[in-house]
Amino acid sequence: MRIGILTVSDRASRGEYEDRGGPAIAAFLGEALSCAWEPHALVIPDEQDRIEATLKAMCDDEGCCLVVTTGGTGPAKRDVTPEATEAVCEKLLPGFGELMRAVSLRSVPTAILSRQTAGVRGKSLIVNLPGKPAAIRECLLAVMPAVPYCLDLIGGPRLTTNEAVVKAFRPMAS
Ligand code: MTE
Repeated sequence: MRIGILTVSDRASRGEYEDRGGPAIAAFLGEALSCAWEPHALVIPDEQDRIEATLKAMCDDEGCCLVVTTGGTGPAKRDVTPEATEAVCEKLLPGFGELMRAVSLRSVPTAILSRQTAGVRGKSLIVNLPGKPAAIRECLLAVMPAVPYCLDLIGGPRLTTNEAVVKAFRPMAS
């Protein structure tokens, strides 16, 4: 099972600073998932065309059942990750963003500045996270319980979790 990890950041893509978001996502998934998986990780600039093309390639060509992005969700001019996500998804899942903002709001009032969303492209689920490394664990802990069932519903692979970290919820035990 492949999982796309996409860091969207002008500065990280130019090497001006080290990408800490991508590795934080990989570390969390390493803890949370009990099934075998491999990361397909990339760092790209905040260019909408480039983000769309990369999301499409991860879902359609690289066979990623889940793609987690970090960065580019805020209100600044160059923040276009949600627009790119919406453009490539057939269905949006606004509950992901709603829950992640609600949870993040307990830590920082600026959580409302993130426009993070999620959606389905084919048999893949795309989830946006903010660029702050601290947001990654917080946001993923909140939404991961629903991710395995979402993949079941869209025809993705059966994802299993380490229950000490994330307890997957499947409404009809299967
Ligand atoms: N969510 C959490 N959990 N922790 C944070 O520190 N930062 C906020 C918000 N969401 C933050 C957060 C801030 S300051 C911004 S501007 C937005 O996410 C968008 O961040 P991004 O543009 O890096 O995606």
